[in-house]
Amino acid sequence: MENLNRRKFLKTSAMTIAVTSTCLCGLQGCATFTKIGDTPAIAPDSFTLAVHVLTIDLSKEKILSQVGGAVKIKHADLPDGLIIARIEDGGFAIASLLCTHRGVEVEYDHTQANFKCASLGGSAFTLDGKNTGGLADRPLKKYEAVLENEVLIIKI
Ligand code: FES
Repeated sequence: MENLNRRKFLKTSAMTIAVTSTCLCGLQGCATFTKIGDTPAIAPDSFTLAVHVLTIDLSKEKILSQVGGAVKIKHADLPDGLIIARIEDGGFAIASLLCTHRGVEVEYDHTQANFKCASLGGSAFTLDGKNTGGLADRPLKKYEAVLENEVLIIKI
């Protein structure tokens, strides 16, 4: 009799663990822990936002002055935020900040040359924003920019 109860208990416990694991690493997990990535916020005095244009003075934003650097910008006028990465001397990749799976922030990976979701869902995106793996099934929005005299002008 005691053996049967123990067996029942173990079976129930195993089922509980299986259900819990599915929730944490599957459909719910991405937004369960945190929605914030490690990308530093842009220096507040380095940018101006106007209708359809974001201008960044790179002399005031040192992280973007170096290849491999990336910053994020959150602002009431930019509902999804932006991630801005300096991918080469004169080149930038700019995309919406929030993963299209469940809205966790993406981060720039210079060695892999892509954006990656900071969550457990493992979504990855090309520098053009295309989703290439993980749980996201839609691309990030990509933004165009020009660099003029150390001022980055982004069309939003
Ligand atoms: S939020 Fe789930 S993979 Fe990005």
